[in-house]
Amino acid sequence: MGMLEEQVALVVGAAGGIGRAVVRRYLAEGASVVAVDRDQDRLDKLRGEFGAGGRLAVFAGDAAAWSTSEAMVAKAVEEFGGLDVLVSCVGVWDQAVRLVDIPGERLGAAFDECLRGNVGSVLLNVRAALSQLAARNGRVVVTGSFASYRTSGGGVLYTSAKHAVVGLVSQLAYELAPRIRVNGVAPGVAQTVMSGLRALDQCPTDAVLPGTENALPLGTIPDADDYGALYALLGSATASAAMTGTMVAADSGLLVRGMAQASLGGDL
Ligand SMILES: NC(=O)c1ccc[n+]([C@@H]2O[C@H](COP(=O)([O-])OP(=O)(O)OC[C@H]3O[C@@H](n4cnc5c(N)ncnc54)[C@H](O)[C@@H]3O)[C@@H](O)[C@H]2O)c1
Repeated sequence: MGMLEEQVALVVGAAGGIGRAVVRRYLAEGASVVAVDRDQDRLDKLRGEFGAGGRLAVFAGDAAAWSTSEAMVAKAVEEFGGLDVLVSCVGVWDQAVRLVDIPGERLGAAFDECLRGNVGSVLLNVRAALSQLAARNGRVVVTGSFASYRTSGGGVLYTSAKHAVVGLVSQLAYELAPRIRVNGVAPGVAQTVMSGLRALDQCPTDAVLPGTENALPLGTIPDADDYGALYALLGSATASAAMTGTMVAADSGLLVRGMAQASLGGDL
């Protein structure tokens, strides 16, 4: 029996690398899923890949808009009769651009886009889902980053936004207890292609810079699928029943990396 048997989940940012892995894992664990993304083409591919069992519906829209937030919750109710879990894997990266390299006249728009995508969308989605989640003692699972804690996972815009995700998780866990639990996953790196900031004319680019594996104590770049089980754990009604307000760092050891070398390596 799967960890999410008979559960209904909204997965937002579902057409991306980690979002797709979450959809796949949630379906494997028995959930019915409404996959939401702004990228219609990749949503169609997702439906082609995983839609055969009748437990996957897709919905295209901008998750940082209230109208989409309301409509996707309505879609979950219409398709599957309610909502147990809201997962957000939405993210926009700033490609580690330094403040000095952002033209001053574009800074406000870049800040708005980065914060709205990474933080504002989650607030809108949770607000729209509140009554449905409360009715079923639901769970929210959001996505932070290594950049939620340390420098160099992005530039100042992304790092600020991902730090804010930690505050969002704490405050919402406090406000929504005891009916709704709120937790997050903070990945280190995953081999995906991330959207950049349109306000800075950034094109999608590899999320992992060359040589990154040398900085990881665990020594290899995880696959996006390696994160799916953590999202399932935090979305489960029982497996994480005592957890709320927690960010689970899944960072290949980056937060415990020493200064000189990544590990004792072959000496062990
Ligand atoms: N890939 C990494 O190395 C890495 C590391 C740390 C954290 N993260 C975080 O993991 C999450 C997933 O990242 P990913 O690597 O899978 O990136 P991705 O770009 O492949 O996935 C993000 C998805 O979100 C969608 N999206 C963005 N803005 C949206 C909006 N306003 N409305 C609807 N959909 C929107 C995109 O279309 C995309 O499908 C993000 O929060 C990211 O910040 C990724």
